[in-house]
Amino acid sequence: MGELLPEWLQTFLTDTVPPRESFLVRLEKQAANEHIPIIHPDVAQFLHFLIRVHRPKTILEVGTAIGYSTIWMARAAGPDSLIKTIEINEDRAYEAWLNFKTAGIEEQVQNIVGDAIDLISKLDTQFDLIFLDAAKGQYLTFFEDAIKLLNPGGLIIADNVLLNGWVADQELIPSRRMKTMVNRMTDYIQLVMNHRQLTSSIIPIGDGMAVSLKEVSAE
Ligand SMILES: C[S@@+](CC[C@H](N)C(=O)[O-])C[C@H]1O[C@@H](n2cnc3c(N)ncnc32)[C@H](O)[C@@H]1O
Repeated sequence: MGELLPEWLQTFLTDTVPPRESFLVRLEKQAANEHIPIIHPDVAQFLHFLIRVHRPKTILEVGTAIGYSTIWMARAAGPDSLIKTIEINEDRAYEAWLNFKTAGIEEQVQNIVGDAIDLISKLDTQFDLIFLDAAKGQYLTFFEDAIKLLNPGGLIIADNVLLNGWVADQELIPSRRMKTMVNRMTDYIQLVMNHRQLTSSIIPIGDGMAVSLKEVSAE
């Protein structure tokens, strides 16, 4: 998915991100060369910020790819935290596991290989933060399980919710298949913005991020 801002402004924002370890820069280059969709550095920085404020001890990620965002979250949450991350593509999950070893976070991360649609309901951990970053048409499918797995006071963060702005202007949608995905994402936005257990906000960073807090008082 893309970026919402004009290139010059996006470049400025990306350049504001403090220098990161060379290993992460290498993963950014690899992702660009091999067209692996990972979060942009400014989105990663925002995720880092949210985690430093929220201080989750248990994190679920749906959509590992090669582990770039997992490593950012592990660094932000610290060595006492546990991250479970689900990836459907076996090769990517294996590569992520190698990257976790290189990053020294393999003890902190449980790499789960398979389809999150089947696996998420089988998880027996309660999480303080859930990061949705898998197939964009499936967020609604993950949602009911995700909110059950989320501790009161926990966050659900969903990436790419503005889908190049297509959620706001359907005239821009390039194909029928994309339209179904956009409609599902529009429903996800409506759901989290109006859900009685959640307080949510849409942040126009990267391709748009929905941040939802599960209220402590929520039943
Ligand atoms: C946008 S990438 C994840 C990027 C990663 N979070 C990062 O920023 O470094 C989405 C990943 O979700 C995986 N995926 C798609 N549908 C999935 C599903 N149903 N279950 C698990 N993984 C899925 C894809 O194979 C892909 O690697």
